Amino acid sequence: MRIGILTGGGDCPGLNAVIRAVGKRSFDNGHEMVAVREGWRGLVDGIFAPLGRREISGLLPRGGTILGTSRTNPFKVDGGVDAVLARFASERLDALVAVGGEDTLGVAARLHREHDFPVVGVPKTIDNDLSGTDYTFGFDTAVTIATEAIDRLHTTAESHNRVMVVEVMGRHTGWIAVMSGIAGGADAILIPEHPITVEDACAQLMKRHAGGKDFSIVVVSEGYELTYASGDTKLVAGEARATDQFGHVVLGGVGDALAREIEHRTGFETRVTVLGHVQRGGTPTPRDRVLATRYGLKAADLVHEGTFGRMVALHGDSIVDISLEEGTAELKTVPDEWYDVARAFFW
Ligand code: F6P
Repeated sequence: MRIGILTGGGDCPGLNAVIRAVGKRSFDNGHEMVAVREGWRGLVDGIFAPLGRREISGLLPRGGTILGTSRTNPFKVDGGVDAVLARFASERLDALVAVGGEDTLGVAARLHREHDFPVVGVPKTIDNDLSGTDYTFGFDTAVTIATEAIDRLHTTAESHNRVMVVEVMGRHTGWIAVMSGIAGGADAILIPEHPITVEDACAQLMKRHAGGKDFSIVVVSEGYELTYASGDTKLVAGEARATDQFGHVVLGGVGDALAREIEHRTGFETRVTVLGHVQRGGTPTPRDRVLATRYGLKAADLVHEGTFGRMVALHGDSIVDISLEEGTAELKTVPDEWYDVARAFFW
């Protein structure tokens, strides 16, 4: 078989480890691999490159993706789907492994459903918001980076008696915020799923300071809407920001707005740190390397068997496969029991 592989959407640590694992298993099974460059754009525009044993060597610890990525949606490009099918055929591909989040895999699911397209999906995203799998690779690395940042901010917060607001990524779910907040001992965590009001967050900090703690760490997820006791809400990031071909607005900025509110309402000196793309760059943690490797081997096995329309997933400690439809059906939000773990340590 000639097997294409692409990575789509935001990059994340572990993509290269998947490419290496899919390649290694597929070569051992006697197949050829083709690099599809820049996500779905590579199939729309026909951007291919050779992918041999030499190209997959040394990839395990490397961040980013050697294939490049994009947020191209063939269903939003004029003639995009026909181009994908035509390029796939003219490149003599027999199968595709698509590595991506809900958008990239949503395209894969639809192509399979509507065109019987021979594709297998691998779930990635630092946001961990795919419902079909317990964890996506990239998440552990992002949480590790955010936790280290919180640890560092703790010491300087304490020296200066300051409130430190840390804005983390996660899009419309608060997984990174909750996990890094628990791991880093945050004093308040604001996420879209549990929108505590600005007034309540400030009251929480004042109670803590009244109890003798002169500094606080506040973790806020980029998708949190400033929420007020009056019932008003404000998605700061939504202001005049562009959307991509999947309709996502570019988030970011709530940390700054929240910090100003806290300083104004409590009188505590407040600083803000926006972690941004630092959370997505660099080498994957051992856990993400292992998860990405297991996903890659399983995806290659499914292709070898000719089982398409599937997404590999982690259920408990086992790697399984589920339908792409199921894998992309809904957003996985942070359940109450996770937030309760964090809340147990608030004042
Ligand atoms: O989905 C991953 C993610 O990092 C989100 O957490 C974030 O909102 C978004 O991508 C940022 O996208 P971009 O790289 O286009 O700025």
